[in-house]
Amino acid sequence: MRAVVCKEFGPLDGLEVVDLDDPPLLIGHVRLRVLASGVNYVDGLLVQGRYQIKPVVPFVPGMEVVGEIVEVAGDVDAKILGARVLANLGFGGYATHAVARADRLVALPESMTTGQAASFLQSYLTGWFAFVQRLGDDPANAAANADRWLLVLGAGGGVGLAAVDIGVALGYRVIAAASSADKRQLALDRGAVHAVDVSLGDDAVKEAAKDLSGGGIDVLYDPVGGSLGEVCLRALREDGNYLVIGFVGGIPKLPANQILLRNRRVTGVDWGAWATRNPEANTAMLREVIGLIGEGRLSPVEPAVYPLSRAADALADLDARRVAGKVILLPD
Ligand SMILES: NC(=O)c1ccc[n+]([C@@H]2O[C@H](COP(=O)([O-])OP(=O)(O)OC[C@H]3O[C@@H](n4cnc5c(N)ncnc54)[C@H](OP(=O)(O)O)[C@@H]3O)[C@@H](O)[C@H]2O)c1
Repeated sequence: MRAVVCKEFGPLDGLEVVDLDDPPLLIGHVRLRVLASGVNYVDGLLVQGRYQIKPVVPFVPGMEVVGEIVEVAGDVDAKILGARVLANLGFGGYATHAVARADRLVALPESMTTGQAASFLQSYLTGWFAFVQRLGDDPANAAANADRWLLVLGAGGGVGLAAVDIGVALGYRVIAAASSADKRQLALDRGAVHAVDVSLGDDAVKEAAKDLSGGGIDVLYDPVGGSLGEVCLRALREDGNYLVIGFVGGIPKLPANQILLRNRRVTGVDWGAWATRNPEANTAMLREVIGLIGEGRLSPVEPAVYPLSRAADALADLDARRVAGKVILLPD
């Protein structure tokens, strides 16, 4: 099989595309012919050795793939051969073939394209975990959020755009903050009520969020952090909640006085750690989210496409904020 290999932590252009022996097919596993591999911002951090988890090198990045089942272990029902499935992998997705646990595979609705299916998992499960598990929102009662305002930072990126889609489905009125017209348009297409240009500056985003929401927002979804997160904390109204998601712009230093004022809350969201500790619950959550996508209540973006051999370029474009929405790799 062909695979993208990180032989040692370092710059993205150090990634190599090589021929590897097919990995052994363990009991309870299936072999997939990869149809598309999802690319996540975290993959680039892992390759550069900048993530909190350091994999053993060499390793093949890639956490989510859609594939066709081409081989099953002796204890797995051969009836599933040929099915198109989604696999949530630890690593190994940037490849032409992958091995995955049969009991964690997820069937896909026909309406979902392979591109959508290969690129929604991390972003949507982070968002669903944040709103439903951490905030306690009830997906069956979106009316409860009808008067509540949600500000999403990085709203044209993978995690932010998913939060816009989920926020709208959960009944929020969403304000999307992003740096380019195409990113803001993607968020508006997913139902955001307003889109704010972050290139106008941190204070301009905060003031726009306060004005547009009529005094202050109820929830801040922040995958960006840095000075933007610090400033936008001040846009939260009484009892508003800041969801700490990620730090592409740096780790914010949230002033404690601003949390005390107006009885604000700050909520940590670490979906990855929770999913590792709760694999069955995570698979159940994945199936619930896919069900909502199948019903049309959630609409993952159609991703930009790069060939597998250009994985380093895809990661570099994400890192440089050149990508609107999501990215997949297709075997070439
Ligand atoms: N908490 C969790 O459980 C969890 C799970 C998955 C991912 N994450 C984290 O979520 C964050 C976002 O991931 P993602 O997949 O959405 O990434 P992405 O697709 O690259 O989007 C990130 C967005 O952040 C904005 N941005 C602002 N400053 C940036 C900078 N210095 N470098 C790059 N982007 C910058 C960009 O939007 P503008 O150009 O519009 O500013 C970009 O579109 C990452 O930190 C990731 O580790 C957290």
